[in-house]
Amino acid sequence: MTAPLLDVKGLAVRYGHVEAVNGIDLHLAPGRITTLVGANGAGKSTTLLALSGLVAKAAGRVQFDGTDITALPPHRIVASGLVQVAEGRATLTTLTVRENLDLGGYTRRDGAAARAADLEKVYTLFPRLKEREHGLAGNLSGGEQQMLAIGRALMARPKLLLLDEPSMGLAPIIVQDIFRTLREINREGLTIFLVEQNVRQALKIADHAYVLENGRIVLEGSGALLLNEPKVQAAYLGG
Ligand SMILES: Nc1ncnc2c1ncn2[C@@H]1O[C@H](COP(=O)(O)OP(=O)(O)O)[C@@H](O)[C@H]1O
Ligand SMILES: [Mg+2]
Repeated sequence: MTAPLLDVKGLAVRYGHVEAVNGIDLHLAPGRITTLVGANGAGKSTTLLALSGLVAKAAGRVQFDGTDITALPPHRIVASGLVQVAEGRATLTTLTVRENLDLGGYTRRDGAAARAADLEKVYTLFPRLKEREHGLAGNLSGGEQQMLAIGRALMARPKLLLLDEPSMGLAPIIVQDIFRTLREINREGLTIFLVEQNVRQALKIADHAYVLENGRIVLEGSGALLLNEPKVQAAYLGG
């Protein structure tokens, strides 16, 4: 097996006496979609926050692209290529679509031409954003705001894209659209780590999946394997 792009060992996070994440291991293969699924409160968001350096780790080690990023501050983690899509489609509603996308690339040091090229890529991926380029983000639909949040993250040139429940609050047809786009982005080479409560959709697009319960990984396998796993069906797929 090739070396994982992200290698997490024994990650633990506590909020006071709440053990939100309880010593988990994750191995994200480069070029793949990996998903972490689980019920509300399982510890999924906390895991992402810990990887992005936004909550303190009680234990564990995080290796990204051959570098130990365990103790790096959030901005250094983003600069290293580990970029999280803003949760809850937290686009800046009083700025235009274009301004939001420009903000996504503002830490880059590779020049205006490279940023302009990436902006065109985002517009190709999401033609709707191009159409609304000069409109306020606050006037976009929920699905469009999710697209903008993804586009903004892509402007930071990620090697690994983290998403926290991009399907949240969206109609099924929009969710399919978003997930299809994630597949497309992945096919172009981007590694994706997708956290979801929408277990069925997540397992469908994931190459590899982890099931999180009460801060622990209880099952792991290919998306296809877990879709057919009786325990997963009983607990998460209503069958
Ligand atoms: N800021 C916080 N302070 C205290 N407890 C928290 C905080 N955030 C999350 N928790 C608790 O940590 C656990 C995991 O939460 P979370 O990571 O948000 O789960 P998920 O994203 O899977 O729904 C839950 O028991 C939740 O109540
Ligand atoms: Mg969450």
